[in-house]
Amino acid sequence: MLDVEKLRQDFPMLVNQPDLIYFDNGATTLKPKCVIDAVTDFYTSHTSNVHRGDYAIAATNDRLYDGTRKIFAKLINCEPNEIAFLHNVTACLNQAAYGLGKMLKEGDTVLLTKAEHASNLLPWFELAKEKNLKIEYIETDRQANISVESFRRAMHEGVKVVSIAHVTNVLGSIQPVKEITEIAHSYGAYVVIDGAQSVPHMKVDVKDIGCDLYGFSAHKMCGPGGVGILYGKHELLEKMEPLYRGGDMNARFSSDQTVLLKNAPVRFEAGTPDIEGVIAAGKAAEYLMEIGLDEIHEYEKELRAYLLEGMQKLDNIEILNPDNEYGPVAFNAKGVFAQDAAGYLASKNIAVRSGNHCAKILHEIIGTDQSIRASLYFYNTKEEADRFVQAASEISLENAVGIFF
Ligand code: ALA
Repeated sequence: MLDVEKLRQDFPMLVNQPDLIYFDNGATTLKPKCVIDAVTDFYTSHTSNVHRGDYAIAATNDRLYDGTRKIFAKLINCEPNEIAFLHNVTACLNQAAYGLGKMLKEGDTVLLTKAEHASNLLPWFELAKEKNLKIEYIETDRQANISVESFRRAMHEGVKVVSIAHVTNVLGSIQPVKEITEIAHSYGAYVVIDGAQSVPHMKVDVKDIGCDLYGFSAHKMCGPGGVGILYGKHELLEKMEPLYRGGDMNARFSSDQTVLLKNAPVRFEAGTPDIEGVIAAGKAAEYLMEIGLDEIHEYEKELRAYLLEGMQKLDNIEILNPDNEYGPVAFNAKGVFAQDAAGYLASKNIAVRSGNHCAKILHEIIGTDQSIRASLYFYNTKEEADRFVQAASEISLENAVGIFF
């Protein structure tokens, strides 16, 4: 059982803004003090670059930065040399498309869904244009769930890459990634997973899933901005081309343009990384592991069910993902433009996201290109859910006036 009231004290934002209902955790999460302190400590006590300085502080930062790979390896069950630090999930997915793209040939198929975030569509679209690949979509139900049967139907010999979200960002559909990976591998296809909305909220075991690449972001799991974590099977990382080239990632190069890259994962980390971000991201991962990812998952499921039950009683509200057990509650206020409705909620000090949530072809599944997304985290409470339902019940054409500030 989570002691949510106690946990809330770890978050200065919640202490400083006691009336705020922050239900925009799908976009980014609040930061606990241990994460803020790690960034501040770096700036106030041990600033340096990494992998470049021959002095004690630099050595400390090398240890802290590279040591963070161990923390993330523990979080998702892999080896530390299978963790590369990029800048966000978008960077992870662009790296995946670029790296795997080098191994594809004209006519190969990349399999996606229409529920993906832009970051898991646009890099593949670009690659498809460049290399003359085919893009195909796995059929889902109306709440963006892939069934194992529909995945089997979508698979064929031409598919070389399957790239999907583990949990979709608008509807919170949890995909059967282990079964999907097993089937995809039986055809020799690579499996890439966007873990932006999964790792922060549930226990993820990449070895159990068996996928080839898995990306997620620190800022959606209580960590700082600017840090994406890319897991890759080590043998794949060793043969995959890095998207960026520059300092640190190379072992040697000569005027005749021969270049020797360092081993993975450093070859994916060209230039000065977000050192303080990575160190603080490690603190966030430790913080979540201490609370317990299974406990977080169970609590969020219960809280979501509670919020959903309240919302379903409202005549003015239409829920888009009533049967999904997890993730955000996505809804519209009948007849009201989503952004106007979000503006009304904002006037009650409630933070949500509205619009298409960067999932710009999801409307082909759900039939609308706008919605309001209430996305929860473990520090949210039933009292907040009650206040939210009350405010949602008041949304109408007359009072929903868009941005009020
Ligand atoms: N990807 C984030 C979201 O879904 C920003 O809101």
